[in-house]
Amino acid sequence: MFKFEGANILSVQQFDRESIEYLFRIADAMQPYAHRHKRTHVLDGAILGNLFFEASTRTRVSFGTAFNLLGGHVRETTGLKSSALAKGESLYDTARVLSSYSDVIAMRHPDSGSVAEFATGSRVPVINGGDGANEHPTQALLDLYTIQKEQHAHQLGIDGMHIALIGDLKYGRTVHSLCQLLCLYKDLKITLISPAELAMPDKVISAIENAGHQCIITEQLEGHLDADIVYQTRIQQERFPSEQEANLYRGRFRLNQSIYTKHCKSNTVIMHPLPRDSRSDANELDNDLNLNPNLAIFRQADNGVLVRMALFAATLGVENLVNRYESEVRWYSNKGNTVN
Ligand code: NCD
Repeated sequence: MFKFEGANILSVQQFDRESIEYLFRIADAMQPYAHRHKRTHVLDGAILGNLFFEASTRTRVSFGTAFNLLGGHVRETTGLKSSALAKGESLYDTARVLSSYSDVIAMRHPDSGSVAEFATGSRVPVINGGDGANEHPTQALLDLYTIQKEQHAHQLGIDGMHIALIGDLKYGRTVHSLCQLLCLYKDLKITLISPAELAMPDKVISAIENAGHQCIITEQLEGHLDADIVYQTRIQQERFPSEQEANLYRGRFRLNQSIYTKHCKSNTVIMHPLPRDSRSDANELDNDLNLNPNLAIFRQADNGVLVRMALFAATLGVENLVNRYESEVRWYSNKGNTVN
């Protein structure tokens, strides 16, 4: 099993199924704290360096929230231009310095491989919050955790399921990492729906095939949406050579309630790493799905806090101490009652 304590989390390739199941059990145990039924101070005094050199809302804030919910403090820096990297400082030097200010670092950066390079200079665990089009391991973990929960709600498991991934499979790091994780499971049908120009990289397709899964590659939505999970994505316009090129694909694959009714199963779960692009020329996931109980996108985002709490607890070696440092919540809260 993967030893979490003191480890960098750079790629999903580090994990086996046993370590993931271990992590998910820790995530389950985080629910009372995330839902504000109880507090814990297990990381009192610890500091998270939350370094986001690329745009982010959910990932950045949920890393910070997860750390705060464990009782730790967060120091944050956002934007490449406002950091010393813009003055020519190396990732190694930045890591040497910032790791002496922190106990763990979460980092996002626009270049593939940058977080691993940074980790070589860090004296504390580094968690990859997304490195260019390469990987987004914590998103894949929370996606898999969500898939497991949603499948359980339908008395199903992950083995044997059908998942359809849609959109920008070339530049979308979340789908790269998720497909690699799904290779730890058995007998899946994985349908990859994208324009040919935005197809899933060959490396990921080979991994899917080597895992013995059935892999279907298509440019059509129709006839491929009768899956257990439909995972929609955004055109990653920031990774295209020009905006005009991104515009060629925006809005190509839209999902709305009438398409869902016509082509999906009655209980197909819809996921999206978010942000969904809600501009009228894109609108890959229409607001008219908001009342569909199978739209899991907000449950998915909520699960991000649980999984990131689990990762912090495990990498800092306190996963068995969390309830020893509990106290009560004194303020009004109804967070445990969210419906969708
Ligand atoms: C994704 C990302 O940044 O890769 N979002 C996220 O982390 N929740 C997907 C995206 O930006 O489209």
